[in-house]
Amino acid sequence: MSEAFIEAVPRDVGDPASCHFYHEMDLPSFGRQRGFWDLTGRFDDYVGGTPVDGRTVLDVGTATGFLSFEAERRGARVTSLDANRPEHFHQLPIHNSEYVLDYPGWRAKTARWIEELHNGYWLCHRDLGSQARCIYGDVSRLDPSVGVFDVVILGQILVHLRDGLSALAAAASVCTETIVITEGSFPNDTPIAALSGRAHLLDVSYAWYQYSHGWYREVLAMLGFASVEVSTDTYTCHHAHHKSAIELTTVIGRREATERQG
Ligand SMILES: C[S@@+](CC[C@H](N)C(=O)[O-])C[C@H]1O[C@@H](n2cnc3c(N)ncnc32)[C@H](O)[C@@H]1O
Repeated sequence: MSEAFIEAVPRDVGDPASCHFYHEMDLPSFGRQRGFWDLTGRFDDYVGGTPVDGRTVLDVGTATGFLSFEAERRGARVTSLDANRPEHFHQLPIHNSEYVLDYPGWRAKTARWIEELHNGYWLCHRDLGSQARCIYGDVSRLDPSVGVFDVVILGQILVHLRDGLSALAAAASVCTETIVITEGSFPNDTPIAALSGRAHLLDVSYAWYQYSHGWYREVLAMLGFASVEVSTDTYTCHHAHHKSAIELTTVIGRREATERQG
């Protein structure tokens, strides 16, 4: 595996209070854990019905691991991937943000948040009896030395990156069959990006660009996906800075125009 990635060491986490739950989770020992995004019962919608049974799946930007654990429950062999360093996160250069004014302070706070995010993943991993492998590193550094996967899932990560196209190309380089991207997007056939962040929105300085449906069709064609399918649906979010019902677009790129089903 390239030096850009490390194999995560499972953690023995027993206290939900030490965790940040990005996903709402139903856990056998700890009950329902409140998270920002409630995707419970929505895995199949979120991945546009992509079959994962018997396939190898890379879950890019796993956070609490909801998508990994659901894919595993459906018979996939799963690798979860997440960032493990503040340097993997790029914020908009908003002049009066902590990121610009006090980078060391932002860095320390973000390092603590990453620890809590990882704790949440490992608490769920153990409580759900998961066998998923987990690696840490920057999505933009993915290459086949990490392994190749039948299905690569990129759920709500491109919006957080300065250069979504390079990250998508890196993720595509490890995808042999189907790439699934679920993101905020907008219906426009022109391949364009729209800036998501705003100068006065300091609390969402992690949101860079949304890409149009046309952008996904064009870029996935560039990356060698013979067919592209686009659909939209609405999901529940409990985050204070967002509406509670949010429309997301699922883009499915297939290497072959007619894919083996089931
Ligand atoms: C908004 S969450 C999405 C969680 C999940 N994929 C989903 O769709 O519900 C974004 C995740 O991507 C991770 N992430 C952000 N930048 C990353 C990077 N450069 N490399 C790897 N992971 C990253 C974050 O740590 C977080 O877990």
